[in-house]
Amino acid sequence: MESSIHTKFDNSIIIPELAKEPVEPHINLRPQNFDEYPGQERICENLKVYTQAAKLRGKMLDHCLFHGPPGLGKTTLAGIIAKTMDCQMKVTSGPVIERAADLMGILASLESKTILFIDEIHRLPANVEEILYSAMEDMRLDILIGQGPTARTVKFDLPPFCIIGATTRAGAISAPLRDRFGIQEHLDYYTPAALSKILLRSAKIMNTHLEEDAALLLSKRCRGTPRIANQLLKRVLDFALVSNKVTIDCDIINQSLNRLGVDSEGLSLMDREFLKIMEERYQGGPVGLEAIAAALNEEKSTLEDVYEPYLVYRGFILRTARGRMLSDSGKMHLNNI
Ligand SMILES: Nc1ncnc2c1ncn2[C@@H]1O[C@H](COP(=O)(O)OP(=O)(O)OP(=O)(O)O)[C@@H](O)[C@H]1O
Ligand SMILES: [Mg+2]
Repeated sequence: MESSIHTKFDNSIIIPELAKEPVEPHINLRPQNFDEYPGQERICENLKVYTQAAKLRGKMLDHCLFHGPPGLGKTTLAGIIAKTMDCQMKVTSGPVIERAADLMGILASLESKTILFIDEIHRLPANVEEILYSAMEDMRLDILIGQGPTARTVKFDLPPFCIIGATTRAGAISAPLRDRFGIQEHLDYYTPAALSKILLRSAKIMNTHLEEDAALLLSKRCRGTPRIANQLLKRVLDFALVSNKVTIDCDIINQSLNRLGVDSEGLSLMDREFLKIMEERYQGGPVGLEAIAAALNEEKSTLEDVYEPYLVYRGFILRTARGRMLSDSGKMHLNNI
């Protein structure tokens, strides 16, 4: 059902019927179990087996490491595992654990069968990381007391626990730490079919009717990423509300995405700037990421973690030994905009 009057965007403020039931801006869209988590099927199927086996044995799950680009569901997956295992989950992250003593304190206070989720685990300082080695492998803390010849190591047994590490940079994790994770999975970009399911579920939670073809259209323009899909959906709902549209159809999706600067391939303004700089300043490359970062006035690490992986995944950029190159499809895309 759609209002006949305000279907175009304009600057007037309209109070349509939908406004009587406002959408909560911070509504929780995070899936709580595997059934609510479309996509990453192979990983989920395996994790279901590992969690079930651990429960049958009455033991904790082996330590897990999830890596992949931002917004693909690593934290969500950790939460689902904790719920499936009926465990409490404590959350911390690499950059906030500055000293070895901080991590020892966290580990020593863990209750039995706790999942310790360490986000951005690649940012743990080296001396802190070393504490994890014996903790993960032998469920034990080796605490060095004193200095010089009188120094001695005190061993402190830890209760059964499981570490789930998450990172956008698997390559930045040291080999000894990586090797201590018995379960390691790489999360990849989602297919439009999986993203459509996610969008339809989110729309339902937000009390909105999203047409199936509109969900598929949006799913093809959200960089294969659930977080972006949900963010775009929320913005589309804003545009729909203000234009007095009750049903989300392809028309409102197209209008909204155009206004948001999201192009037909789902690339953002920043993605296109990235490609444009390569073409206009460096004749398509090869060019180093530092040079592109300087031209874009952006951190190299942000380009590396957030923008580049999807452009490489879509084949718009090629990573070569001599630097980044704009591919033929990248050039074609720029010329078609
Ligand atoms: N498979 C999925 N199904 C439904 N929603 C999902 C799925 N994966 C992620 N989401 C949604 O996307 C959002 C981002 O997911 P999450 O925070 O788990 O990503 P992440 O990989 O931990 O990102 P980051 O690397 O930035 O920490 C979540 O709020 C969740 O609602
Ligand atoms: Mg996360």
